[in-house]
Amino acid sequence: MLKLDYSKALLSAEQIEAFAPKAEEAQKALEAGTCAGNDFLGWLHLPSSITPEFLNEVQACADVMRANCDTVVVAGIGGSYLGARAVIEALGNSFQWLTNKGENPNILFAGNNISEDYLYELTTYLKDKKFGLINISKSGTTTETALAFRLLKKQCEQQRGKETARKVIVAVTDAKKGAARTTADKEGYASFIIPDNVGGRFSVLTPVGLLPIAIAGFDIKALVKGAADMEAATCGNVPFAENLCAQYAAVRNVLYQEGKKIEILANFHPKLHFMNEWWKQLYGESEGKELKGIFPAAVDLTTDLHSMGQWIQEGERSIFETVISIEKPEHEVLFPYDEENLDGLNFLAGKRVDEVNKMAELGTQLAHVDGGVPNIRIALDRLDEYHLGQLIYFFEKGCGISGLMLGVNPFNQPGVEAYKKNMFALLGKPGYEKESEAIKARL
Ligand code: PA5
Repeated sequence: MLKLDYSKALLSAEQIEAFAPKAEEAQKALEAGTCAGNDFLGWLHLPSSITPEFLNEVQACADVMRANCDTVVVAGIGGSYLGARAVIEALGNSFQWLTNKGENPNILFAGNNISEDYLYELTTYLKDKKFGLINISKSGTTTETALAFRLLKKQCEQQRGKETARKVIVAVTDAKKGAARTTADKEGYASFIIPDNVGGRFSVLTPVGLLPIAIAGFDIKALVKGAADMEAATCGNVPFAENLCAQYAAVRNVLYQEGKKIEILANFHPKLHFMNEWWKQLYGESEGKELKGIFPAAVDLTTDLHSMGQWIQEGERSIFETVISIEKPEHEVLFPYDEENLDGLNFLAGKRVDEVNKMAELGTQLAHVDGGVPNIRIALDRLDEYHLGQLIYFFEKGCGISGLMLGVNPFNQPGVEAYKKNMFALLGKPGYEKESEAIKARL
């Protein structure tokens, strides 16, 4: 089981204990469905309610894509994108691009930006590829995703013919609403439903994440099992002293009250970069509202010790750090002995590279703590599907409890509409005539 260590959070046991009742109360409200945003609690018991039959269904669809595509483009943004990318990159070979012998399709992502150059380069790359497409959008109307999907659907049909395109385009969207649903039904695409009561950033364990992850060749059963085990280990009747999610939520809230307004998630493996990104969305969109909320930031270490390390060590003391630590690497590389020892590194000869990384991790932790940065450490035994499943659910439930402790509705995101309204007004979208006039007057 994942380990949580907050012995270096620079808090006393009394300070944390004082927040335990609040954490328990928040979890009770979550489990009873009496909290704010209670129409979006479908994620809470999702892992334990996913049936083997459902996973087989997702796998069967993934197998069709795997058999018919060398490349699969996942169109989606925010919660309809980050979870899949986080898991696929964490589990995949860092050099998948260069080493892929065709055993698994390459997974590419689109619809998460509106860059013309990105789409030009992507569509150019895809010209000689047997590519398939997954259109992931809960609302089915998100501009970034819809724009990329329209472009790529046409290319897929032109390159592969309408008949094959129908086989290799899949929709993951609402049961009834939205353009993605209308298109899927009209074209006869295979499709999966995003449950109404699961919000985007909590949807990685629905087909939003499971389908791309299965297409990439990873074990979705083990992923869900890890999440289900974490669900059981942190369920309603588990007391605070044993409940890792409640503890993480409580520690964050104590630190926030102590003036630590920024949480920096750190990893020591570049593969976890998108896990950071997924976490940032989860916590940022859930807690940043009503002029409150810890700002979720992230660093990849040791890389960023050579850029952000100075700030973390000696900048304003408004931060705390949460480190994801992986106990056992999947591969072994020994540092070689060198006769000449010109680099003076023979003291490392025979050691595993991971031992050096671990000492960097420990040295960083102690240095940052000495610099007044509270530290939380989350340790996973290995970076595999099962442990990632645990981590995902741990962060989801920790987020739900933490947001409720903060006094906000962690399951809405009213703030994300503002830019969309302006963009539509500026683009002259039908229905936005009044806003269009008002915004143009400001320019
Ligand atoms: O978490 C969320 O709700 C958002 O990040 C959405 O996932 C994102 O805006 C994409 O929305 P949709 O899935 O409707 O295209």
